[in-house]
Amino acid sequence: MSEETSAVIILFGGSGDLAQRKLYPAMFGLYKRGILAAHFAVIGTARRPWSNAHYRDIVVAAVAGDNDHDQAVAFSEHFYYQSHDVTDAEHYITLKELAATLDAKYQAAGNRLYYMAMAPAFFATIASHLKSEALLTTDGFNRLVIEKPFGHDYASAKELNDSITATFKEAQIFRIDHYLGKEMAQAIMGLRFGNPIIKALWNKDFIQDIQITLAEAVGVEERAGYYETAGALRDMVQNHVMQLVACLTMEEPTELSAAAVHKVKAEAFAALHRYTEEEAAANFVRAQYTQATIAGSDVPGYREEPGVAADSLTDTFVAGRILTDLPDLAGVPIYVRTGKRLTRKSTQVTVTFKPGAAGMFGAQPAAHLTIYIEPTQGITLELNGKQLGATNALVPQNLDFRHDKKAAQAAPEAYERLIGDALHGDQTNFNHWVELAATWRYIDVILAAWAKDDQMPTYAAGTMGPKAAFDLLQRDGHDWFWQPTRIQMAD
Ligand SMILES: NC(=O)c1ccc[n+]([C@@H]2O[C@H](COP(=O)([O-])OP(=O)(O)OC[C@H]3O[C@@H](n4cnc5c(N)ncnc54)[C@H](OP(=O)(O)O)[C@@H]3O)[C@@H](O)[C@H]2O)c1
Repeated sequence: MSEETSAVIILFGGSGDLAQRKLYPAMFGLYKRGILAAHFAVIGTARRPWSNAHYRDIVVAAVAGDNDHDQAVAFSEHFYYQSHDVTDAEHYITLKELAATLDAKYQAAGNRLYYMAMAPAFFATIASHLKSEALLTTDGFNRLVIEKPFGHDYASAKELNDSITATFKEAQIFRIDHYLGKEMAQAIMGLRFGNPIIKALWNKDFIQDIQITLAEAVGVEERAGYYETAGALRDMVQNHVMQLVACLTMEEPTELSAAAVHKVKAEAFAALHRYTEEEAAANFVRAQYTQATIAGSDVPGYREEPGVAADSLTDTFVAGRILTDLPDLAGVPIYVRTGKRLTRKSTQVTVTFKPGAAGMFGAQPAAHLTIYIEPTQGITLELNGKQLGATNALVPQNLDFRHDKKAAQAAPEAYERLIGDALHGDQTNFNHWVELAATWRYIDVILAAWAKDDQMPTYAAGTMGPKAAFDLLQRDGHDWFWQPTRIQMAD
C-alpha cells in the first residue's frame, strides 16, 4: 500500500530509545515513500522539558543520512513536543487541544494513531486516560499501536488486554511483533502457498522436522533491568518464535486479508499440542551463558553482567520441542531455540524432508529447505544430485537464492512496514488477542514447570547452547541442521 495517509500521531515515549532508533527512521522511510506527506503531524511526549526546536534536532539526528539532510529537516517540521506525565490527567487535556490544532493545520481528517513506546506498566494508564479525557475523535480513525512485552504471563496479559479494550475495540488495536514486519517472515506464506510443489510436500508424510533458530551473538547489554524480569522464553519464544511456528504450521488462508490470516493462525495456536508440566520440563531446555574468551576477548557470564542478580534464574537460552495437533503436521517435531551470546547472529528456519528408502542410487538422504530471515534473506533448497564424475553416488546440492543486499536494504524495514500498515488499517501482521492468549497459556505451563526447579543449566558464551539442547533432538534421532561451527553455505 503506497497511498498517502493523514493522521496526527501521538507518540508516548517520544524521547526514548525505541523512538529514536526505530520509530523516527521508520516514519522517515514512510515520508520518503510519500505515505506520510503533507497531512501528518507527530506529537512526541515524555516528561523531560524539551522545546519543539530541540525535539526536531533529535529527530533529524535520528534519521538524517549523508544525502538527505534537507529532507530530514523538512520531515522534522511535522514534529511537536509536549512535556507530559502519563499519570497526570491535566496533561491529556493539553494534548487533546494540541492534537486538534495540528489536525486543523495539517488537515489530518480527525485520524489519530496513538503509539505506546513506553514501559508496559504505563499502557493501561494511558489507555484509560485517553478514554476519560475523551481524546478519541469521532470523525476519523483512532488506532492504538502497542509494543511488547504484552504481559508476562496469561493473567497479566489478560488484565492488560481488558484495560485497553475498555477504550479501544480489537479492530483498533495493533499489537506489534516486529518479526512479523520482516521481509522473510512475510515471505513464508508466499513460499508455502504460492508453490504447488511446496504445498504438496508440506505435511507429515514428507516432513521429518522443522527447526527455528533465533540466535543472538550479543549478551544482555544494557537491558538487564528488563531482561531479569523476562528471560528468553518470554522475550523471544512467546512472541517471535510462536508467530513463526504459526506461519509454518497454519493452513492456507482463503484469501490474503487480515481476517482470513488471523483465522488460520488462531486455529494453528489452538492446535498447539498442550504439554503437562512434566512433559514441558522434558521438552523444553533453559540455560544461562557463562564467562568465556571469544576471539581473544573476555566475555562475562550472565550473572556477572551489570544489573543481574548473582543468583539469577533468568533463562538466556531456550530450546524446545513443539508439537501441533493439526492433522497435516501432527507428530512432526518443531524444534525451536533462541538465546543470547550464541556463536553467531542468525534467524533461520529449516524444514527437513524425510530421507527416502534406499533405491537404485543407494541411500537417499534427507533434503533441507532453509529460509534465511536475518541477517541474510533468502532460501536454500538442498536436493540430492549426482556427484560429478564417473560415479552414480548422490550428494547434497544446493539451489540458493539470496536477496541482493542493496535491494534488501532499500526495501522498507520491519517498523516502517508495520507503522505503514497501522496507518492503512491493515492488521494482518499484528498480534490478535486470541493469538496472545493462546501463546501465553502455552508458555505458562513451561514457566510453571521451571518454577519447580532451581537448577539453572549453563552454556559457555560463544557456543550454541547447552548439551541438553542437542540431546533434545538426538532423542528423536535428529540433529540441529544449522551448526555455525560446521562448514555450511553462507548464512
Ligand atoms: N528499545 C528497543 O529496541 C525496544 C525493542 C522492542 C520493544 N521495545 C519496547 O518499547 C517500549 C519503549 O522502550 P524504550 O527502550 O524506548 O524505553 P526507554 O528508552 O526507557 O523510553 C521510555 C520513554 O518513556 C518516557 N517516560 C517514562 N516515564 C514516563 C512518564 N511517567 N510519563 C511520560 N513519559 C514517561 C521516557 O521519557 P522521560 O524520562 O523524559 O519521561 C522515555 O521517552 C517498551 O515497551 C519496550 O519493551 C523497545
